[in-house]
Amino acid sequence: MQKKPVIVSGVQSSGNIHIGNYLGAIQNWIGRQDTHDCYIFVADMHALTVPGSVSPEDLRASRRRAVAAYVASGIDPDRSVIFCQADVEAHAYAGWLMTCATPIGWLERMTQFKSKARSGEKEAAGAGLLTYPALQAADIVLYNADLVPTGHDQKQHIEYARDLVERFNHLYPAGLTVPSPMIERTGARVMGLDDPTSKMSKSTAKQKGGHAVFLDDDDALIRKKFRRAVTDSGTGVDAETSGPGVRNLVEIIAACGGQTLEQAFKDLHGVSYGELKNAAADAVIKRVAPIRERIVEINQNPDEVEGILEDGAARARKVATATLSRMRAATGLA
Ligand code: AQP
Repeated sequence: MQKKPVIVSGVQSSGNIHIGNYLGAIQNWIGRQDTHDCYIFVADMHALTVPGSVSPEDLRASRRRAVAAYVASGIDPDRSVIFCQADVEAHAYAGWLMTCATPIGWLERMTQFKSKARSGEKEAAGAGLLTYPALQAADIVLYNADLVPTGHDQKQHIEYARDLVERFNHLYPAGLTVPSPMIERTGARVMGLDDPTSKMSKSTAKQKGGHAVFLDDDDALIRKKFRRAVTDSGTGVDAETSGPGVRNLVEIIAACGGQTLEQAFKDLHGVSYGELKNAAADAVIKRVAPIRERIVEINQNPDEVEGILEDGAARARKVATATLSRMRAATGLA
């Protein structure tokens, strides 16, 4: 039988999952479960890179919430391997091997680190903020991933992971699979509703109420958030002249309906901003309401999530341990 291509992807358990995570990443895993071997994980170790930003209770809850959101969205634990990164010890070990193979200069050039360093926060930041790209490369490589489906913001990270894996293979003949990013044309860059020049993110959503729509928001709250979404001084939707706020709403509608951006702009041409906001709320509610209802059901049965995680970690461990053995042998640690 021909080997299926392998997909690895995940969401950080650093807060509540929003429609950017869903439209840019989660939605794109669902339809690939029969054609690809899918390893879908909760990036819980990455949630610690800013020390003190998440309490142990919140992190625990966030891990479970992410799994509930995956399953409620349509990730099937029988067809995909769903697990938490921290439950598969090989991530920490392979992360260390990758860290040692990575030049500090490369890490210092990563955007997240550079922006912290520029804003004077470097002294207080944890060293994980510098080294997490090496852990991310290990997360991907452990499962021999061919493809990493993500939002646009992760493009740089996945390309960087490729460089790290190639360097590792050059230093040590481990024959690790070099991954490629997989980014959809629509929904890969959902922007904040309050500020369409910055991407919707969990960390910003913690500080600003109207920034993001979450998968567990109720219909009334979703409508309220879209009513307040920033648009521009124009009056009707126009593919040529509309600003970033309007483009963002059109893109959200397109991504929810499986349309191209061009088609959505055609359909919505001339529509007033009030109608556009209603249409965006309708499109999101249609997608999110069934997921929210399923999340409630899953949360009523915490054993279901625990069972999925135990089973997923056991299946993930088998593959990850085999790759780690190759890495250890190649470096001389075994
Ligand atoms: N706005 C987005 N539009 C499209 N895709 C997005 N993703 C994230 N934001 C958007 C994709 O979702 C997956 C998980 O990413 P993440 O856990 O890093 O999400 P986040 O909301 O960006 O999380 P944080 O913790 O708030 O990070 P910061 O503060 O760094 O932005 C990825 O595939 C990502 O591309």
